[in-house]
Amino acid sequence: MRLRADELSRFGEELGRGLSAPAVIGLSGELGTGKTTLVQAICRGLGARAFATSPTYALVHHYETADRPVYHVDCYRLRSPDEARDLGFDDMVRERAIVLIEWPERAGAWAPQADRRFRLSYTDSPDIRELEEIR
Ligand SMILES: Nc1ncnc2c1ncn2[C@@H]1O[C@H](COP(=O)(O)OP(=O)(O)OP(=O)(O)O)[C@@H](O)[C@H]1O
Ligand SMILES: [Mg+2]
Repeated sequence: MRLRADELSRFGEELGRGLSAPAVIGLSGELGTGKTTLVQAICRGLGARAFATSPTYALVHHYETADRPVYHVDCYRLRSPDEARDLGFDDMVRERAIVLIEWPERAGAWAPQADRRFRLSYTDSPDIRELEEIR
């Protein structure tokens, strides 16, 4: 799907509105392709409110909805998959949370199995991204 930024946001909001916990979503794609934009839209769709980010885990952003916690985990800065061991994925799964993971491949086997995976890529146009679901 070729999407402008506003269309990507609308897609994310819609996706968020339809999500029920527990759920794990993986988002891959080069730097600046719109993964965080998509995560923020999903959070809006979920009606999620931001919690203070723990300084210890600057890679993990915590939100709350009426029923379940939501975690946004950005694995980009992990230098090796083993650094993902302490991110708390096990607890998130145990809490039956909604977990949105940027660069899940960088966490290797520490990342929980994604229910849905998306990839964003650049196109010939600077305002348009290609969004595909990986099956
Ligand atoms: N069609 C589009 N969809 C999403 N973002 C777009 C689009 N066109 C332009 N942009 C711009 O691209 C940037 C995407 O930034 P964003 O932080 O969401 O990407 P990212 O994939 O999370 O990057 P990083 O890998 O650095 O975390 C924003 O500045 C946004 O305005
Ligand atoms: Mg990002």
